[in-house]
Amino acid sequence: DMGGHDTYMHKEICEQPDAVDRVLRGRIDDRFNTVHLGGLNLDAREARGIRRVKILGCGTSYHAGLIGAGLIESLARIPADAEPASEFRYRNPVVDPDTLYIAVSQSGETYDVLAAVQELKRKGGRVLGVVNVVGSAIAREADGGTYVHAGPEVCVVSTKCFTNTVVAFALIALHLGRIRDLSVSEGRRIIDGLRRLPAQISEILESEGEIKKLAEEYADAKSMMFIGRVRGYPVALEASLKLKEISYIHAEAYPASELKHGPLALIEPALPTVAIVPDDELLEKNRAALEEIKARSGRILAVAHREQEKADHTIVVPKNEDELDPILMGIPLQLLAYHTALSLGRDIDKPRNLAKSVTVE
Ligand code: M6R
Repeated sequence: DMGGHDTYMHKEICEQPDAVDRVLRGRIDDRFNTVHLGGLNLDAREARGIRRVKILGCGTSYHAGLIGAGLIESLARIPADAEPASEFRYRNPVVDPDTLYIAVSQSGETYDVLAAVQELKRKGGRVLGVVNVVGSAIAREADGGTYVHAGPEVCVVSTKCFTNTVVAFALIALHLGRIRDLSVSEGRRIIDGLRRLPAQISEILESEGEIKKLAEEYADAKSMMFIGRVRGYPVALEASLKLKEISYIHAEAYPASELKHGPLALIEPALPTVAIVPDDELLEKNRAALEEIKARSGRILAVAHREQEKADHTIVVPKNEDELDPILMGIPLQLLAYHTALSLGRDIDKPRNLAKSVTVE
């Protein structure tokens, strides 16, 4: 049932304020400014003993894991990174007892992720799952974990599960941070930010009409460049994947800092750039990248917290805490991909050559 929407994708994009509300519900502890995640099966002593975090997933879940690694590193101060599960399991990785492994999967059935979990367990690794589908194979195989509670996702491309997975990582990061070194007031700051998310997502969804116009304006592009830095880079990767999957427009994502090391050669009016430009410590650096693109007559669509004068268009999104900004900046880009695909007449819920869950190698 599409509940009045033309596609499941549109329905699922619009469900995000409620979905985020659901992943937060019952987990926040306002007395100690932390969160409770009963399913992690990790006591305080074990949580303090973690030396590294390695996150594994595929596609959109891998991108959510990249943002998750950033959250864990900044809030819990544990070195963390994310890697495609399929690559990890074929490079005979050293399995380290002081590393916490986290497998991310919407369906909980992706074969490459499941096989990575099984290999880790064979070698004595401790693996948590961050999964949407309750009782799925990865959820059963993991030593513990957390459900992302996005509700059923029908469209082949993932939207609300991506957002909820990132929020689930913010909860894990806050939980680990408060057991380790994160102060009471820092815990408070993140909790307050998390609680603002549902209303801020609704506010972004209200600008759908404006985003639709922009999508129609850029839909003639043969290829698009997505750029961001640090927290903004995984947002660029995910937005680029979304556009490719449903519109079949070629897209690339780069850290903005890498432009001058090669991809700047591609910039010309026919190759528009979507730039993630948050109001954070990297604002001036991001603006410098916009100038480099403008100097080569590139068209620029910025996603920012205020109007960017070097950009041809800016989608202004509400500001949250720096660490949580990527959650909000991804949302208008889901709508951008959606309306681009719609204006090109694509089969949005069932893009060619793709399946909802990839249960083979
Ligand atoms: O169910 P999973 O999260 O494990 O799926 C992983 C990928 O196959 C999935 O995210 C894929 O990239 C989607 N088509 C994204 O829109």
